[in-house]
Amino acid sequence: NVCPHRGAPLCEGPQCGTTAPVEQAQFIYHRENEIVRCAWHGWEFDIKSGAALVDPSVRARTFPVTVEAGGIYVTA
Ligand code: FES
Repeated sequence: NVCPHRGAPLCEGPQCGTTAPVEQAQFIYHRENEIVRCAWHGWEFDIKSGAALVDPSVRARTFPVTVEAGGIYVTA
């Protein structure tokens, strides 16, 4: 739950998609619900890998998660 930029709690950011260029000055919105955007400065991370979209070598820490019987279980 720690943004690698300045330590913001990533849980406060929206789960969302992101934009990508398709042609000169045109963008599409894609990857709905695959991204978490940091609430402090807007860095975007792939939810599954934790990789920052702008620089995949920068990563938020991730953990294995299972969903069972309506509960979410995190393995630390
Ligand atoms: S603290 Fe997350 S983008 Fe700056």
